[in-house]
Amino acid sequence: MQLLQTRAELLHWCETPAQRTVPLHFVPTMGALHRGHSSLVEVAGRPVAGSAPRVLVSVFVNPLQFGPGEDFSCYPRPLEADERVASEAGADALFRPSVEELFPGGEGQLTRLSPPRELQEVLCGRHRPGHFDGVATVVARLLGLVRPERLLLGEKDWQQLVILRRLVADLGLPLRVQGCATVREGDGLACSSRNRYLSALERLRARALPQALAAAREPLMVSADGSAPVLLATVRTALERAELEVEYVELLQPHSLTPLTRLSGLGLLAAAVRCGSCRLIDHTILMTRQPLVAIDGPAGAGKSTVTRAFAARLGLVYLDTGAMYRALTWWVRRQGVDPADGTAIEPLLKGLDLKLTTATVGEQRVSLNGHDVTEAIRSPEVTGQVSLVAAHACVRTALTRQQQAMGERGGLVAEGRDIGTAVFPDADLKVFLTATVAERARRRALDLERRGFAVPPLVELQQQIAGRDHADASREVAPLRQAPDAVELITDGLAIEGVIQALVDLFRERVPEEAWPEAS
Ligand code: PAF
Repeated sequence: MQLLQTRAELLHWCETPAQRTVPLHFVPTMGALHRGHSSLVEVAGRPVAGSAPRVLVSVFVNPLQFGPGEDFSCYPRPLEADERVASEAGADALFRPSVEELFPGGEGQLTRLSPPRELQEVLCGRHRPGHFDGVATVVARLLGLVRPERLLLGEKDWQQLVILRRLVADLGLPLRVQGCATVREGDGLACSSRNRYLSALERLRARALPQALAAAREPLMVSADGSAPVLLATVRTALERAELEVEYVELLQPHSLTPLTRLSGLGLLAAAVRCGSCRLIDHTILMTRQPLVAIDGPAGAGKSTVTRAFAARLGLVYLDTGAMYRALTWWVRRQGVDPADGTAIEPLLKGLDLKLTTATVGEQRVSLNGHDVTEAIRSPEVTGQVSLVAAHACVRTALTRQQQAMGERGGLVAEGRDIGTAVFPDADLKVFLTATVAERARRRALDLERRGFAVPPLVELQQQIAGRDHADASREVAPLRQAPDAVELITDGLAIEGVIQALVDLFRERVPEEAWPEAS
């Protein structure tokens, strides 16, 4: 592992992104490295598309993020131990600049960054004024020097992670932010550089922090009535009983950090306490149901392929609502009913036995009234009539109700046209997956060619796709619309793996890995 101390050494080692042959992954730290840091370095070193990235760790005790009276001067600086931990975890280089080296013009003259107020006025930000300005300023400076492809940060400092993700997005920096699950000691205490300040007795008391948070996850407490004041008071009492001085206990929406008055879906329960001279923070995710993801978008945007793979990666049930409309269309045809006649279709909806089963994760079979119709629903006849059938209000109501029942406990990703707007308006993540008409026409041409069909001219395909978009968006019942709180993901220029990764990243902004690990 190479030791770098000056900006010149760093720039030489990093090379410019254009010169690089392998990606550079960056783990910024303040040193006093522990198992949490080692795990970040190990994750950073995992191969990407078969090739091993280079991993750079920085150790810089950043004066800008310490307030008056905080522990800047006595923050632990175990230089040799840090070198050993970083090297054993697989770092290729360790950048450890002095304050003068990183801020050559002096701290006073520095351009400062200030993350949005609403992200700073809660949790640690409220109790440590200026702290996140200091974090944002130093991280932006480091990113400017290193220019990594990936930035790895611990989920333990969830507010920091939210703020730095926002910084990267707002500055349009060309890199991925990856959060990594909190690593805990055997007694449940989250690994932290500050744990080493704790005396043996304090250490015993400190255990009450993860324990009180974990107790709040018990079904009885969460379902008491979901009211935040009740939850927060119970946690506070448990912490105080262990003689921990409570700085805050808060319940917030994990992604926006908006305070919640009632828990519904997912909530971030976070606390900060003082134990002796040591300040400790921790959090947990409370769930009244498992995570729910809604993916909508126009035809031909590649929703099915990526949603199925995304579901498999995160161990979520994949609900292809389009397959349900197709299955019904198959039944309507089989019963000799006119697909355009809603009144004639209505009786068929009573007692409809429509099942989607996931054999292996992500793979779905469709059965209707005892028939396995998985393949049959993909026929050109069904494809040609499914829009007609799906446009009847009675059909929409019946299938929406069934989809909602399937999603009641969460743990599911549903894909369709009106999932985020009508079926699961309270989904934790809503994505509107789309691509330009030109791109969708290009993909459709490739697909037809691959399957041995004649390929119409691209202009014709573009007209068909634009026509279908217009019909979907302007139909009276359940028109295709992007939910106001959906994230638009335009997939032009992205390979399938890139789209799946983008979905996973969006999910991770809302659901920490510790609360919902990837499927193994
Ligand atoms: O989490 C930390 O160690 C620090 O806040 C960071 C991100 C390295 C910035 O100084």
